[in-house]
Amino acid sequence: MAFRTVWNYCVPLTIITVACLVRSAEIQEGKGLADHHYTLKARCQAVQAENVTVLEGGTAQISCRLQNYDGSIVVIQNPRRQTLFFNGTRALKDDRFQMVLFTPRLVRITLTNVSVSDEGGYFCQLYTDATHHQVATLSVVVLPETPMVEVKQDAVEGGEVELTCVSARSKPAATLRWFRNGREIQGEVSQEDNGKTFSVSRTIRIPVERKDNGAALSCEASHPSLGGQKRVRHYRLDVNFAPTVRIVPPPGILREGDSLSLTCSITGNPLPRNIQWSKINDSLPERAEISGPTLQISRLSQSHNGTYLCQAQNNYGRAADHYTLLVYDNVSVTTTVLPIPTTTRTVTSHPTTPTLLASRFIQEPRDPGAVVETHSAVPYAVIGGVLALLVFTVICVLIVTIWCSVRQKGSYLTHEASGLDEHGEVQEAFLNGNDASQGKKEYLL
Ligand SMILES: *[C@@H]1O[C@H](CO)[C@@H](O)[C@H](O)[C@H]1NC(C)=O
Ligand SMILES: *[C@@H]1O[C@H](CO)[C@@H](O)[C@H](O)[C@H]1NC(C)=O
Ligand SMILES: *[C@@H]1O[C@H](CO)[C@@H](O)[C@H](O)[C@H]1NC(C)=O
Ligand SMILES: *[C@@H]1O[C@H](CO)[C@@H](O)[C@H](O)[C@H]1NC(C)=O
Ligand SMILES: *[C@@H]1O[C@H](CO)[C@@H](O)[C@H](O)[C@H]1NC(C)=O
Ligand SMILES: *[C@@H]1O[C@H](CO)[C@@H](O)[C@H](O)[C@H]1NC(C)=O
Repeated sequence: MAFRTVWNYCVPLTIITVACLVRSAEIQEGKGLADHHYTLKARCQAVQAENVTVLEGGTAQISCRLQNYDGSIVVIQNPRRQTLFFNGTRALKDDRFQMVLFTPRLVRITLTNVSVSDEGGYFCQLYTDATHHQVATLSVVVLPETPMVEVKQDAVEGGEVELTCVSARSKPAATLRWFRNGREIQGEVSQEDNGKTFSVSRTIRIPVERKDNGAALSCEASHPSLGGQKRVRHYRLDVNFAPTVRIVPPPGILREGDSLSLTCSITGNPLPRNIQWSKINDSLPERAEISGPTLQISRLSQSHNGTYLCQAQNNYGRAADHYTLLVYDNVSVTTTVLPIPTTTRTVTSHPTTPTLLASRFIQEPRDPGAVVETHSAVPYAVIGGVLALLVFTVICVLIVTIWCSVRQKGSYLTHEASGLDEHGEVQEAFLNGNDASQGKKEYLL
C-alpha cells in the first residue's frame, strides 16, 4: 500500500530525479525487481523547479518542490551558480533574496525588485548520494513606457514632417502604431536589440499644410503583457507658416475731430511678436498711440491723411496690410457718400527690404470727388442697361414669332411640292432677311 502511494506520487511527476533513475538502474542490473521497488520507496527523493515570469521591478517567487525529503542539504544557486542559500542559510549578500519557506515539501525564496539582469536559470540542488538539480527559469518582462515622439525638423507648410515614435525599452519588443483621426498611418519600423531589452521605433512622413497646424496624432504602444491596454502618446502637429496680416478698417467715414482706431489682425506660426505700424512716405503722427496690434489717433485732422501700414514677420516670411486714411472736413458733412476702404494684403515668403515692400502699397489717396462722380453715374448706367435689355427682349420675341410661322409654312411647302423650293426660298428671304440660308436648310429637312 505504501509502495503504491509512492509509486503513484513519483511517476506522474514531469521530473524524476536522476538519483532515482540511477538507483533503479543499478538495482535492476544487480538485484531482483522486488528489491528494486523496495529501494525506490526509500530512495525516491526528488526536487522539482517551476519556471517563473515576472514584471521588471516586481517580486519573483522561486520554488523548489521536494519529494520524500530526508533532511539532505538543499542548495539554491543563481544563474551565475553563486550559492544564494545553503540549506536555508543565506550565502550571498543580496538582501533582495529572502528565504520565505523551508518545509520538507517546499523550499521557496523571493527576489524583490527584479531586473532583467536577474534572468536565467536558478538551480535547486539536492545533495544526496549523487548531487542532482532542477532549474527554475526566471523570465523578466519589461513593459514599454508611454512612447516618445521625436521630430527631426520643424514642420513648415508645404513641406513634410518626419515623426518618430520611440519605445526605448521593452521585453519582448513592443508594437508601435501611429494614428490620425482613428486611421492608422503606416510607417517604417525599426527594432534594436539592446542585449536583454528592445528599442522599437516607427517613423512616419506626412505632408503638412497650414490647416494641419494643431492636428492631433497619436502613437500607441501595445505589448503582450499589457493585454488589450495601450500606452498612448498624443502629439499635436506644429506647422510653421508665414504670417498673414489684415487691417480691420473702421466703419463709415472719418471727419476732423473723430478718433481712429485700426486693429491689425495677425496669424502666423510662430505668431509674430512685433507688429510694426508706419505711415508711407511720412512719420506716424504725434498723436498716434500704438498698443500691440492697435493703432489709435485721437482728434483726427486732414494732416493725418495718408497710407498706414501694418507689418509683421516671423522666420518663415513677412506680411503687410495697408489702410488709406482720408479725413473729411466738417463742411462737406452733407455728402453721404461712403468711400470704400481700400486694403490690400501681401505675403512675401522671403523677407524683403522695407523700402521694396512699402513701394508695393503706394497708392494715390482716393479723391472723394471722383467717388461722388462714380456714384452719380450709376443711375444713368442702370437706366441704359434696362433699356438695352428691353430692346433685346423685344427683338428676341420678334425672331421667335417669325421663326415659328416660317416653320409652319415650311412643313406646308414640303407636303405640297418640292418644285416650289425657289418660291419658298424667296418667301423665306423676305421674311427672315439675312437668315435665308438657314431657312432653306429647314425646308430641306
Ligand atoms: C522552463 O524554461 C526553460 C527555458 O525557457 C524551458 O526549456 C523549460 O522547458 C521550461 N520548463 C517548464 C516546466 O516549462
Ligand atoms: C537542512 O535543513 C533542514 C530544514 O531546516 C533540516 O531539517 C536538515 O536537517 C538540514 N540538513 C542538514 C544536512 O543540515
Ligand atoms: C530597483 O532596482 C533598480 C536597479 O535595478 C534601482 O535603480 C532601484 O532603486 C531599485 N528600487 C528599489 C525600490 O530598491
Ligand atoms: C470739426 O468739428 C469738430 C467737432 O465736431 C471740431 O472739434 C473741429 O474743430 C471742427 N474742425 C474744423 C476744421 O472746423
Ligand atoms: C485729406 O483727404 C480729404 C478727403 O479726400 C481731402 O478732402 C483733403 O483735402 C485731404 N487733406 C490733405 C491735407 O491732404
Ligand atoms: C511716396 O513717395 C514716392 C516718391 O517720393 C512717390 O512716388 C509715392 O507716390 C509716394 N507714395 C505715397 C503713398 O504717397
